[in-house]
Amino acid sequence: MRYNPKSKTVLALETSCDETAVALLKSECGQFRTVANLVASQIEEHAKWGGVVPEIASRRHLEALPFLVEEVLSTSGQSMREIDAVAATVTPGLNGALLIGSVTARTLSALHQKPFLGIHHLEGHLASVFLNENPPRPPYLVLLVSGGHTELIKVNNDCKYQRLGRSHDDAAGEAFDKVARLLGLGYPGGPAIEKLATYGNPKAYSLPKGRVSNPAGGFYPYDFSFSGLKTAMLRQVQLLETKQGELPLENLAASFENIVAEVLVERSIRCVLNQELKTLVMVGGVAANKRLRKMMSDATSSYGVALHMAPKAFCTDNAAMIGVAALKRLESGVSQSSIQLGVSPRWSLEQADLLYRANAPF
Ligand code: KG4
Ligand code: ZN
Repeated sequence: MRYNPKSKTVLALETSCDETAVALLKSECGQFRTVANLVASQIEEHAKWGGVVPEIASRRHLEALPFLVEEVLSTSGQSMREIDAVAATVTPGLNGALLIGSVTARTLSALHQKPFLGIHHLEGHLASVFLNENPPRPPYLVLLVSGGHTELIKVNNDCKYQRLGRSHDDAAGEAFDKVARLLGLGYPGGPAIEKLATYGNPKAYSLPKGRVSNPAGGFYPYDFSFSGLKTAMLRQVQLLETKQGELPLENLAASFENIVAEVLVERSIRCVLNQELKTLVMVGGVAANKRLRKMMSDATSSYGVALHMAPKAFCTDNAAMIGVAALKRLESGVSQSSIQLGVSPRWSLEQADLLYRANAPF
């Protein structure tokens, strides 16, 4: 095969929460191709505790990561010599979990003399939409809905972000997980609620949409709050338990899923129209939800807004999206992060550029 100077290959690692993931990505003429993509889920282990246990997550990452790296290289038929850069998620996430991926990536990078790129996890989610055949062109609005974040982000240009809306309490995925626990369903809650909701009536219960008051008057138009909805679900469950004993789980799941989707759709549409943008992108774990995908697709087409959603398989955490984010950074002229770059549980996406400064910010 002839060497194409414009083609780049990245080995990417993702360990910010409870999925150990490794992928090998190639960029060719502006297109991104997943050559190998492995995810070792720890869900079963954490499910016993009803949520992610940070110490268990770190230990499992440490055990699984070397095998996944080896497997990805061997299935893709590539050696470290053919890799142009090694990337890992460095923020935000669980400190210990992030550290396992970052130290592994930096070790590989030093050992094989390849540039290291520290990636912002949310930039990874944003990049997941480029694993579609028809990616969006900036400027556009992104609804990022995951277990840790619910945000409306304007992408002005590749790697230039402006947050316009956010949740003031739980993220949408976190609300799915907590309500699933309340209903006695498994972890993670999103897929469990989605499954039951298929058989329920989405209008069975009237639930609140959760708005955030602005101290200067009125409400923040693009912000979210899911804590009131969680409490309303708890009250509804308590009421039903005293009245009839057995819970109508399907109707409760469908009503909850429907109200979350309505809120997400309404605020995204309001924001995209007010900002005079023509394109909306939806990414993150909750973006895998069928009802939300359908409602968002109906609403955008009725307002003449183009909708680009991350492929379902790349909505929840994976390393392919981290690889695409790294390739896009390389395309934008970034050469590497400092090998001294550590990890941080929190860091704003608007400051992701600082991850590529010679003076590491953390
Ligand atoms: O993006 P992600 O894998 O991790 C974070 O970065 O947070 O998102 C995980 C979240 C969990 O809260 C999970 O319950 C939710 O995404 N989720 C879903 C679905 N699949 C995953 N929520 C609703 N419907 C789904 N099908
Ligand atoms: Zn994520």
